Amino acid sequence: MKLKKIFNLNKKIKAEVLTYFKTRKKSKYLTKFSKEIIDNLELNGSVIIKDFIVEKNHQKNKKNYKKFMELFGKILSQNKKREKIVEIKDLGKKWSANTRGYKTNDFLDLHTDGGSLASLFCIKDAAYGGESTCVNAKTIYDLINDQSLKKKLFEGFRYHRRGEASNYSKITKKKYPIFFYNKKILHCTYNRKPIEEALKFQKKYSEINYLDKFDEYIFKKKNNISQFKLKPGDIWIVNNFKVLHGRKKFINSKKKQKRLLLRAWIKPTKFKFSGKTYLEALNDI
Ligand SMILES: [Fe+2]
Repeated sequence: MKLKKIFNLNKKIKAEVLTYFKTRKKSKYLTKFSKEIIDNLELNGSVIIKDFIVEKNHQKNKKNYKKFMELFGKILSQNKKREKIVEIKDLGKKWSANTRGYKTNDFLDLHTDGGSLASLFCIKDAAYGGESTCVNAKTIYDLINDQSLKKKLFEGFRYHRRGEASNYSKITKKKYPIFFYNKKILHCTYNRKPIEEALKFQKKYSEINYLDKFDEYIFKKKNNISQFKLKPGDIWIVNNFKVLHGRKKFINSKKKQKRLLLRAWIKPTKFKFSGKTYLEALNDI
């Protein structure tokens, strides 16, 4: 089992994809291709599709990427602006409860996103840093021998809603488990910062210890964490219930291009994994 399976978009698939963009009809070949990707996401947890078309026209990239991602399922809105394709770039802001991580150049902890699948399309990579990181949730789970921590992880936490709340509530009413079983399959949903912000909001400072302990397990064995740099044209798709992902801090060079990624959150029609994700937590569903 590989944490990331690589798929190269060969000429044949590219031609099929371009026809699909025009006709919106999925050929048998593309149906088989998308099924293979989904199967791998269930089995391995993440795939990298290499050599997707990068155009100079930014809007065209967004359109093509959205259409391509529709091969794998329904594209979900990620914020209150109802954006389905979000740009990941440094807007010069620092992470805060109300500034979502994708608008900064900060290091991002290992976490899961919204949707069953999160996908990142690299248009331009950073001059320095910005490496992606990932770890298998089950690998972390198997390391945990602290029963009180395990109990708390299954019980879950409330989330800070990051300014995505349409009503007055700054934090969720519901708790979201970090680990849960669905159809006997272990699932994970974890995003430390909004959980920590919600604990601070509730003045439950001592519970932050649970997050520290859990993070210790995440970072316990360096070998468990895979690190790599996405290149322009790479599309990385992650099964959010199985793999936690993160990012190293990056620096854009003034002379060179600035790091730009596009992100989509997807719900496949048929998928072995299902449950509440970070998106449900933002919306308190
Ligand atoms: Fe993420």
